[in-house]
Amino acid sequence: MSSLTTLESDINSRCVNSVGTEIAERAAKLGFRTLVLDTELEQIRSFDLASGDLLGSERWHAVLRSKQHEWSQGKFRGGTGVRVYACPISRRHREIGCVFLHRFLPRVEKNALFTGILEDPRARKSLDDSVAIKHADDDIIASLLKQSINDLVSMHESDNDVEDLSHRLSEAYETLEVLYALGRSMVNIDKPEKFVVQACHRIREALGFGFVAMHVGKDMNILPASTIWEGDPDTGPETIESRDRLLNAIKHNASLNEWDDSLGSVVRAVPNAQGSNALIVAGDKQTDGGHISSYDTKLIEASARFTSTFLSNAQLFDIQKRLFVGIVESLSAAIDAKDAYTEGHSRRVAYLAEQIALNMGLTSSEAERVRISGLLHDVGKIGVPEAVLCKLGRLTDEEFEDIKKHPEIGHRILKDLTGLEDVLPGVLHHHERYDGRGYPHGLAGEDIPMMARILACADTFDAMSSNRSYRSAMPREKVLAEVDRCRGTQFDSDVVTAFLKIDLTVYDSMVAEEAATVQKAA
Ligand SMILES: [Fe+2]
Repeated sequence: MSSLTTLESDINSRCVNSVGTEIAERAAKLGFRTLVLDTELEQIRSFDLASGDLLGSERWHAVLRSKQHEWSQGKFRGGTGVRVYACPISRRHREIGCVFLHRFLPRVEKNALFTGILEDPRARKSLDDSVAIKHADDDIIASLLKQSINDLVSMHESDNDVEDLSHRLSEAYETLEVLYALGRSMVNIDKPEKFVVQACHRIREALGFGFVAMHVGKDMNILPASTIWEGDPDTGPETIESRDRLLNAIKHNASLNEWDDSLGSVVRAVPNAQGSNALIVAGDKQTDGGHISSYDTKLIEASARFTSTFLSNAQLFDIQKRLFVGIVESLSAAIDAKDAYTEGHSRRVAYLAEQIALNMGLTSSEAERVRISGLLHDVGKIGVPEAVLCKLGRLTDEEFEDIKKHPEIGHRILKDLTGLEDVLPGVLHHHERYDGRGYPHGLAGEDIPMMARILACADTFDAMSSNRSYRSAMPREKVLAEVDRCRGTQFDSDVVTAFLKIDLTVYDSMVAEEAATVQKAA
């Protein structure tokens, strides 16, 4: 039997029972003693209306079964010593049951059809000669009965429709809420792990599963793990061994054939034929008596499709981002290589600037943009003659004016490139001073963009710490003291404070690495 048939049968059975209960109350008021309720013309139950007891006369039920078709077609039937009021219960033009009200009169004992019935004490209870219902009233009673049943079925159907609609609305709302939340999270394309964890969490909360696990294909390298498990440690498969077995099945994208039904139902959704993106497995349903509905499956499938689309986009974004950073790093390395004395300068400034940004409480993505700006800050030196850049000894005033053009040249080179808009202020203003005596625009204080104030400090520290064509590197202690001394004049005081918190171990290893590379090349 399909689940749809089972559902329909369940609704019909509830309808018959609901109508039967109401009719029983009305029939009791009319003086009837017994009501027989027939569900789907299969399960017959008799009730003593006075006591509410269930009457179990099998013989009487057998008679009803043999006569039900004949009786249910008419208004009432009976014969010697019995009056039977039969009225079919119809729902959506289909007969789903029948209500029989009957009265046995003493003369029933002369009716061969009922021979032996009244030997059953429970059936005998229904023998009722105290209610004087005239034969002429039968038509009225039958009509009232039929009308009552029709009204009750209509009411039940309306209630059922309202309940059904309310249930569907609630499901639709939950579906929309989950998918809306997932859709909204899709903008955070650089945070795939957060998206996946949230997706599992929302599915679990909305559908009441004990656990929700998601597995992404082995080609998906943007997440720290290929399987994410969301669920209370105490829920899920009963034993650790079972859970391990499920996780293994998920990891290998197996068909879950080895899943043991005794561990609870699971639903899984594979969004595409290759199964290369998101596979969602949910189980240990905590609500609806553990029953997994088509609604659960649909929502999980939709979530798996959302997640797959998101992960595909996130992976493309990651590739694009790595390509972009790779190009930027190559470009900055090429500029630094123009002068052997500045080899690795941009990479070190980028590192220091990122650390300052993090120490100042900027987010990791903001600090990443500061790092990119650090990599590109001297890109304008590409437009400065090499003879000036690499000149041994002091520069003339004219040569120095040439050097001072590099922030604006860099800004001009980068300004039309999509995706670099936010790093341009660092490139243009990294030689401004906090006291307004810098270049190219002579900006002062907080008029200088934060990114540029950070780069100015990192840039000067690295310049003082490195050998230059015109002087040797200064000792570390002296450099740090000089940076500290320039608080509020050359540098933003807050930036200096953040800079002095940096552990310079990584910076020193970068310096050593560059020195080794230069030595090897020489
Ligand atoms: Fe510079």
